[in-house]
Amino acid sequence: MDAMAIQAFGGVEQLKPMHLPNPQPHDDEVQIEVHCAGVNPVDWKIREGYLKDAFPYEFPIVPGWDAAGTVSALGQNVKDFKIGDRVFAYCRKPKIQWGTYAQYVTMDAAAVAPMPKNFKFAQAAAIPLTGLTSWQALYETAHLKTGQHVLIHGGAGGIGSLAIQLARHVGATVYTTASEHNHGYVEHLGAHHAIDYTVESFVEAIKRLRPEGVDAVLDTIGGKVQLLSYEVIKPGGVLVSIIDPPEAEVAARFKVRPGYVFVSPNGAQLRNIAGLIEAGAVKAPKLKELPLKEAAAAQEQSRGRHVTGKIVLRVKK
Ligand SMILES: NC(=O)c1ccc[n+]([C@@H]2O[C@H](COP(=O)([O-])OP(=O)(O)OC[C@H]3O[C@@H](n4cnc5c(N)ncnc54)[C@H](OP(=O)(O)O)[C@@H]3O)[C@@H](O)[C@H]2O)c1
Repeated sequence: MDAMAIQAFGGVEQLKPMHLPNPQPHDDEVQIEVHCAGVNPVDWKIREGYLKDAFPYEFPIVPGWDAAGTVSALGQNVKDFKIGDRVFAYCRKPKIQWGTYAQYVTMDAAAVAPMPKNFKFAQAAAIPLTGLTSWQALYETAHLKTGQHVLIHGGAGGIGSLAIQLARHVGATVYTTASEHNHGYVEHLGAHHAIDYTVESFVEAIKRLRPEGVDAVLDTIGGKVQLLSYEVIKPGGVLVSIIDPPEAEVAARFKVRPGYVFVSPNGAQLRNIAGLIEAGAVKAPKLKELPLKEAAAAQEQSRGRHVTGKIVLRVKK
């Protein structure tokens, strides 16, 4: 199969076209013919070696954890899918090697879900990693509810594009940080208040908009942004980070519950997200589509930290 892959950790020049064997499904796996692969910041972080102590790995490494495509082969225990089904999946496996910047990927069938019927492959490939992260952070960890107020950092990015919509769906009031040119986009996703973090401190903005503080913050930035976030959360509220686990002592000082999510594959949650999409409660993020051979350019754009929505690679010609 054709793939974009690396033989060593390093700069973007490591990402090269390669011809590799098709991965074959184990008994509980499906093989997916990838039509489109979503690009996420973790892809360039893996290429640069940032996760090499977190997961076992083997070269060549095909990056990419998001896929939308059709089922092309089935393991003998798989009953829920048939050849040709249109599916999407977050394809993180125990070992980093065979990702989705390739014509074929295999994944545990329990992590795969039928694609939303109203979505094209490119739209579906933009959903799994960001949708599951947002679900696990806002619903499973923050337990966000109707009537609560939530600050989502980086609302125009991949995570923000799904998190704003899931927060809005449960009836929360949504505050989000974004550059001014992205305010129309985050409002279109459902944000009630857009804060231009490049000209105003988000702490001052929340103090003005919600003096009693918010119930929850989703930290997609880390560092100083995480520390400052405590100042806008009311006592008894929750700080969920997807960057650095919040320190328990600092959280206790602010009477805030700390949470951290590293997203797990989950086919049942992905089916729920597909249901919300089909019901019209969640729309596709703004997309930039590039051919697979431009994966290096896609990762460079992602590395710049100012993608609006998602970048998706077209794998099937
Ligand atoms: N733990 C996990 O499971 C998990 C899962 C997914 C992602 N992540 C991590 O979460 C982070 C966000 O992921 P993503 O996919 O959303 O990335 P992304 O799409 O690259 O995010 C881009 C967005 O970040 C915004 N941004 C940059 N600096 C900002 C700041 N100081 N304050 C507010 N917004 C800022 C930009 O806003 P403007 O252009 O509007 O300025 C842009 O819209 C990445 O580091 C990623 O690796 C972790």
